[in-house]
Amino acid sequence: MSKTLKDLSVIAVTFFLLISLLSSCEKTQAQPTGDPAGIVKKNCTVCHNPQRICDSLGKKDRKEWDKTVKRMVDHGADISKQDIPSVVDYLTNIKPGSPTVCR
Ligand code: HEC
Repeated sequence: MSKTLKDLSVIAVTFFLLISLLSSCEKTQAQPTGDPAGIVKKNCTVCHNPQRICDSLGKKDRKEWDKTVKRMVDHGADISKQDIPSVVDYLTNIKPGSPTVCR
């Protein structure tokens, strides 16, 4: 192999490795799960205690929960857009004291 060809292949391999490294670092979009209880349990307790949600059960209506959940997504909650309505419904319908968010 000539020197230039060798240099070229080294550059090509380095380039390829760099690209695959960069694409693996890309932020993955939250995938819809269709499991609102699981989402609340897993994703709504990252930043604050579930007690914070527990305190609002039965006090917020659907519209208020919708506003709250969208604000949490703005804060950085990892919830897919498609799952927002079911999470809002779930939070609107669970009873005060529900063991999912209350202890
Ligand atoms: C990225 C961090 C983060 C995540 C994830 C998160 N929250 Fe919050 N949450 C906050 C912050 C910050 C506050 C206080 C400021 C505020 O109210 O906007 C808060 C406050 C709250 C409050 C009290 C204020 C109010 O409007 O009643 C409730 C209820 C709440 N969060 C529910 C949720 C629910 C439900 C989820 C999941 C859908 C969630 N949070 C996920 C950051 C987060």
